[in-house]
Amino acid sequence: MCMKSDILKVLYTEEEIQQKVKEIGQQISEDYKDKNPIIVAILKGSIIFMADLLKNITIHTETDFMAVSSYGESFQSTGIIKILKDLSCSIKGKDVIILEDILDSGNTLSYLKSLLEQRGPSSVKIVTLFNKPEGRQVPVYPDYIGFNIPNEFVVGYGLDYNEKYRNLSFVGVLNPEVYKKA
Ligand code: IMP
Ligand code: MG
Repeated sequence: MCMKSDILKVLYTEEEIQQKVKEIGQQISEDYKDKNPIIVAILKGSIIFMADLLKNITIHTETDFMAVSSYGESFQSTGIIKILKDLSCSIKGKDVIILEDILDSGNTLSYLKSLLEQRGPSSVKIVTLFNKPEGRQVPVYPDYIGFNIPNEFVVGYGLDYNEKYRNLSFVGVLNPEVYKKA
């Protein structure tokens, strides 16, 4: 079955996303112009965003990855975060930019931010491509936000439902029929 036929509506097209990623890249390049930030992408949802954003950053950067999982099913995070893959280098004295695909309850980022802050970085900022303000359970204030979106489950451009749909070049809302079948 065609992947696209499972999408109820397109929320942001590939062009709209690319334009926004370009703007975030320009802003980061300006804000960090005398620095050499380390961009920490949170696997796996942020890989496509990371790749596109890096191409739009014009200053020197380092990159690293972390993988986390929240105990719980695919829709709701529980607040208990498990580190599946930690950073491969020290961030002491560095300017860290945490890169997330989507911020919902805030559980993941609030945990990760305080974890990384304990390691002696010079600064820690957060960039998220999508933000669902209505989903928030714990306060988290991202420094860069791509799009504020309503409280709907979205897929594409890295975001998954049960590991699928990450490879859509746009972001859309899944047809509820897909969950019913599961
Ligand atoms: P938080 O800890 O609730 O803020 O959740 C962040 C994580 O939940 C993201 O990294 C995603 O993996 C997942 N998530 C939250 N909302 C969505 C969505 O609409 N689509 C796909 N994944 C989502
Ligand atoms: Mg994720």
